[in-house]
Parts: sequence; C-alpha cells; structure tokens
Amino acid sequence: MFKNSIWFNLHETESTNSFLHEQLMSEKLPEGSVVTADYQTKGRGQRGSSWQSEAGKNLLMSIVVYPDFLKASEAFVLSKCIALATCDLLADYSNQVRIKWPNDILIEGKKVAGILIENILRGADIYATIAGIGINFNQQVFEVGLNSATSVFINSGVKADTQINAVKLHENIEVYYQMLQQKKIEEIDRLYLTHLYKLNETALFKDADGPFQGKIKGLSPMGLLIVERENGEKHLYDVKEISLVR
Ligand code: BTN
Repeated sequence: MFKNSIWFNLHETESTNSFLHEQLMSEKLPEGSVVTADYQTKGRGQRGSSWQSEAGKNLLMSIVVYPDFLKASEAFVLSKCIALATCDLLADYSNQVRIKWPNDILIEGKKVAGILIENILRGADIYATIAGIGINFNQQVFEVGLNSATSVFINSGVKADTQINAVKLHENIEVYYQMLQQKKIEEIDRLYLTHLYKLNETALFKDADGPFQGKIKGLSPMGLLIVERENGEKHLYDVKEISLVR
C-alpha cells in the first residue's frame, strides 16, 4: 500500500506540512510519502498556533495520503486513525496514553504529541490529506506557559530514537489507513473511544456561557463532542466551541 512511498529526511525546514504542500504543487507523490525534520523554523499547530520543538530532540513528521474513498464530511475518521497510530506507538513507553478530543495525545494528562491534519480540496472532494505529527520524545525543558507539555523522556526516563519511531509510526498509520479503506469505521470509532480522555468522567468544561460540570459521552458521526450536563441534557460541540478545563 505505502510500498512506493518516498522519504525526505531533512535537517531543517519551515514546517514538514508546508514542505509536503510545496512538493504536491509540482508532483503527485506516491501515497504514504513522508518528510521528517530535525528542526522546524515555523512549525505549525492547530488553529493557527505554532509548534515549538527543540532541534534534534523530537519527532517531526508529515505524511501524505489520497483518501478519495472518503467524503469531505467523513474526514474526521482519518484524523482518528492518525491519533490511534500515534497512541499505539507511545504504548511502548506508557500505559497512560490518551487522546484528548479531537486529537491531542496525552501521557498522564500532559500533552506529549500534537497532530495537524490539512486537507487539500478539489471542489467538494478531498484530493490529498497531509497529516503532520509532532511527538515530544527527548526534550527535557519546555517554554514557560507550556506547563501542560511533557515528553517521553520526562515521563519514562527513556531516550528514544526518533528515526526508528518515524518508521514504526509510518507502519502504524498504514495499518489504520488500511482499516479505513476497508470501511472498518465502527472498529476505528470503538478504538478511538477506548483511548478518549475523560470519557464518562465528570470534568470541568467551558463554553460561550461559562464554566460547567459535565461528562463526555462520545462523538457524533461528524466528530462533534457529545457532552452531558449535570441536568442530563446532552449538547454537541465543535472544536472551537468548548474547552476542557480539568
Ligand atoms: C497541535 O497540537 O497544535 C498540532 C501540532 C502539530 C505539529 C506537527 S510537527 C510536524 C508537522 N509540521 C508542522 O508544522 N506541524 C506538524
């Protein structure tokens, strides 16, 4: 499936996602092609944020796939696959790996990895998806203000080889992508829920009306978060509409 994929291992680039974008402007890379970098000068995070990562310490990787069998409305399933592939990789280092909806990866409640999915559309269809994954492996110190960040090393004391992990992650993504192609959506949904942080636990949330207690009950087919309030009412939230306080 990904057998013809090309690997670019870069010392430095602006952003591995942007690098793949540019490559795709001039040629259609084989499915599963990957770029890794030791350092990004303009690493990008979700919702316009930046992604900081000390040079040579962590895994910075992007992969391109062509999910022409998916409708744009089903795109979130692919995001679930990338999150699950990342969880499986990190399961070698901790049994406390969870997905914080939509796709932050936590170890013991602290963010160890982030995922940035970018779809290139042609009309209403997804032409290509670039999935960028940043995993904090060996970084020991994070910027003040990022006190919810951790790394595999901080958590487990193990120094990991980022390039070996890149190869394993690629294999894991291939496994989940194959499940997706085989339309094993229910299985993917089930696995996603088994990893979901705070599922069915009382937690403090904040929406446009302020803070409230509630419980995550699952996800809608479109990937919206279902939260049950203390009065039993269930609400659906898009990612910009709610935050989990603790
Ligand atoms: C987030 O949690 O905000 C998403 C972070 C995604 C970071 C990765 S690192 C590799 C790839 N290149 C980027 O510029 N971003 C993603």
